[in-house]
Amino acid sequence: MQEWVSNRNAIISMNREQIITRTADHVKGLLDGEGTGHDWWHVQRVWKSAVAIGTEEKVDLFIVQLAALLHDIGDWKFHDGDESVGPKMAKKWLEGLGVNGATIAHVCEIISGLSFKGAGTPTPMRTREGIVVQDADRLDALGAIGIARAFAYGGSKGREIHNPTVAPVQHASFEEYKKSAGPTINHFYEKLLLLKDLMNTPTARRIAEERHAFMEEYVRRFLDEWEGKA
Ligand code: ADP
Ligand code: NI
Repeated sequence: MQEWVSNRNAIISMNREQIITRTADHVKGLLDGEGTGHDWWHVQRVWKSAVAIGTEEKVDLFIVQLAALLHDIGDWKFHDGDESVGPKMAKKWLEGLGVNGATIAHVCEIISGLSFKGAGTPTPMRTREGIVVQDADRLDALGAIGIARAFAYGGSKGREIHNPTVAPVQHASFEEYKKSAGPTINHFYEKLLLLKDLMNTPTARRIAEERHAFMEEYVRRFLDEWEGKA
């Protein structure tokens, strides 16, 4: 009993900075060495850019940081398409740290709504904190790093890099998008090249435009080489 009381007091007195540090350590432990581009380094980049964008947008950086850190711990792509795993894991972790219910609910709402769900499925975020984390996550799917992550993910799922007989699809529903197993070059048309126009904040839009131009050039060269033109 005595021990329980002192543990609880330690939790209650944990400040925001300590909660962030503990959460970062926890996520690092879970995702370190992951090989599909959803590793700790991805989370660290999203964390940093979410803080940068969130500072511009003057939003609650505690919420932003917790959501950025916890957004990929239980991704549906690695849990048989089950979208409820990630938010549940985040909730359990934050409850264990004694974080208040409203904060937990907000963080879990952001994690639930973050993911791209196919060309035909809107993914609106209700709060300013949510749009910041969504932009930060999506920026990391673009540019040189985005290209590397796409092929790492495709390889991990045993996908072809390209197959000119398989046309890209603009998925009308999330269910269709979840089931897609096309070659990785198709993913550029099905998601990556669409992200620029889905950015929420001016800061992210500016960065996305540059990364988008680089990816367009990359795909152009890829297809030229494929056809022996370059
Ligand atoms: P989201 O939250 O939108 O699902 P993530 O941060 O989880 O985004 O990361 C998605 C990453 O996984 C992207 O970099 C993307 O390139 C890669 N990815 C997802 N689906 C595919 C796919 N079908 N083919 C290739 N890469 C994919
Ligand atoms: Ni992510």
